[in-house]
Amino acid sequence: MPEGRVFVTRRLPDVAFDILRDAGAIVTIGQSDEEKGLDREAVIAGVRNADVLLSLLTEPIDREVLQSNPTLLGVANYAVGFNNIDADAATELGIPVTNTPGVLTDTTADLTWALLLGIARRIPEAHRYMVDGRYKIWGPNLLLGEDVSPGGSGRRKVLGIIGYGRIGAAVARRAIGFDMDVLAYDPHNQPAIDSDAADPSRHLRSASLDELLSESDFVSLHPLLTPETHHMISERELKLMKATAYLINVARGPVVDEAALVQALQRRTIAGAALDVYEDEPRMAPGLAELDSSGNVLLVPHIASATRDTRDRMASIAATNAVAHLRAERAPNVVNPSVYDTAAYRARLDASGA
Ligand code: DGY
Repeated sequence: MPEGRVFVTRRLPDVAFDILRDAGAIVTIGQSDEEKGLDREAVIAGVRNADVLLSLLTEPIDREVLQSNPTLLGVANYAVGFNNIDADAATELGIPVTNTPGVLTDTTADLTWALLLGIARRIPEAHRYMVDGRYKIWGPNLLLGEDVSPGGSGRRKVLGIIGYGRIGAAVARRAIGFDMDVLAYDPHNQPAIDSDAADPSRHLRSASLDELLSESDFVSLHPLLTPETHHMISERELKLMKATAYLINVARGPVVDEAALVQALQRRTIAGAALDVYEDEPRMAPGLAELDSSGNVLLVPHIASATRDTRDRMASIAATNAVAHLRAERAPNVVNPSVYDTAAYRARLDASGA
């Protein structure tokens, strides 16, 4: 395809546009207002006039969107998660879908630890205390938090990691420096857990979900959002957690039943929660923000991969995938590779003249 059209739903780091234009693509950007995303009609209109779609996690790319252009050659998602895209429908329709894996692993693991430390040591409250001018005299009871390392009690704390993919494993690696014991649960990645557990210096072992929830001081969520993991942490699971335990979620909001979490926090059946993602983003469940005054929440707006370097790399990977779609080449980060063997894919190439 000599001159393909790429519809990019939102503004991205410049590197994405440099790569697309260097490849000869004609680029259209859907977003006109930095504060607003695109509505469904705008996404469909953009897709109809494009050969490739470069989407963000803010746009649901469902069957109807995918069906709106019979010659669409691929979808390049600017995220490692691709739960915003109906990948099964894409495969059925012969459309390759790509993501941006790997580059944001460390960045996301770092934010997980920032949240974990921040909620345990009450950093947001302490900051507010300072800027509000309330610090008058040091005292032994001022803003007491919880140890993450053995600290005063000398007891090794337990970090439970649910979802042991790249990011879960990177979070576990960082626990070595805090002398923590790590419990890991991931029915789909048992070999990775077994391999890390074989190294005694890792202090890591495999656990069932219930065992992990009832033994951990910190529970950190890293599974993909699938029908199986939707509301994987709900009332029953929250009740299994210790009253002194903290929940950290940098995965996807709907992994947690947010209304049940608010109740658990209000009733103090768990000690606190630090969240980067929300069930109905950007909205929060009623009562969640109000918990700020109780000091048992730390809430940030889906910034786990938000460093300049990582966002640039994500842009570069997404654009490179988009160019591969445009050229009808096998894309580097395809999440539905079986699509290339389908008659639907070949029919799509024929129809588009690619
Ligand atoms: C992702 O990539 O899936 C993150 O949620 C945003 O970077």
